[in-house]
Amino acid sequence: MDIKIDNLNKVYGDKSVVNIDSLSIDKGKIYGIIGPNGAGKSTLVRIIAGLEEATMGNPIYNGRSLDTKSIRDITYMSQRPYLFRTSVFNNIAYPLKIRKYDKKAIEKKVIDIMKEFKVSHLEGQLATSLSGGESQKVALARALVFEPKVLLLDEPTANIDPNSIELIEKTISRRNKEKGITVILITHNIGQAKRLCDKVIFMRKGKIDEYGDAEKVILNPKQSTTKKFLSIYSM
Ligand SMILES: Nc1ncnc2c1ncn2[C@@H]1O[C@H](COP(=O)(O)OP(=O)(O)OP(=O)(O)O)[C@@H](O)[C@H]1O
Ligand SMILES: [Mg+2]
Repeated sequence: MDIKIDNLNKVYGDKSVVNIDSLSIDKGKIYGIIGPNGAGKSTLVRIIAGLEEATMGNPIYNGRSLDTKSIRDITYMSQRPYLFRTSVFNNIAYPLKIRKYDKKAIEKKVIDIMKEFKVSHLEGQLATSLSGGESQKVALARALVFEPKVLLLDEPTANIDPNSIELIEKTISRRNKEKGITVILITHNIGQAKRLCDKVIFMRKGKIDEYGDAEKVILNPKQSTTKKFLSIYSM
């Protein structure tokens, strides 16, 4: 799915928190969004996910506004994953249930993805009792279990140990290569952006300060603000 944004503005009270002239998200690519706290990254992604309305200029999906069909192709994982107060299995099965998969298909898909994310041993545990990192893995498994076309991830590895970060990065990369899934990933992990992303969007004060091929933006930023931000990270 292609996503196009033109003259998007999101205002809270008298503060414009996202203000983007133009941005195209091409099918099958991985986009990284980086930038300081409060830059508007999560707000932008929540608008793309259809969870928030822009004040002006909502995104266009495959030439149309978001509708009940296109919203089913998009999956979003929040910065603070919210799991239901039931078992890990039921949490991961949920997107399949609402999409009316039959019981056998649900069981197979949930079991397979629990293996992929190495959370099979947590199958019967109450999801609200998981550790931070476990919750994030289960939330990501739930986001991917129905094979979405667009994956929106808000800091998916923020609480995750290095081994599990590698596992999650491989999973994202494999889905992108094998299934052509489009990914938009917010991260404060610059190495991760370099490893995973085709393009990087650097946001600051609601605007796109710099945009381009991931390697170019990260290794050779043009804007002084991007340079400063990245130099602090490499200290
Ligand atoms: N519902 C809201 N009402 C008022 N202000 C809001 C609301 N949601 C977000 N904001 C403000 O909008 C700005 C952008 O927030 P956002 O969560 O998009 O930032 P972010 O780039 O994701 O930051 P972080 O790296 O800390 O996650 C912040 O200043 C935030 O306080
Ligand atoms: Mg955020």
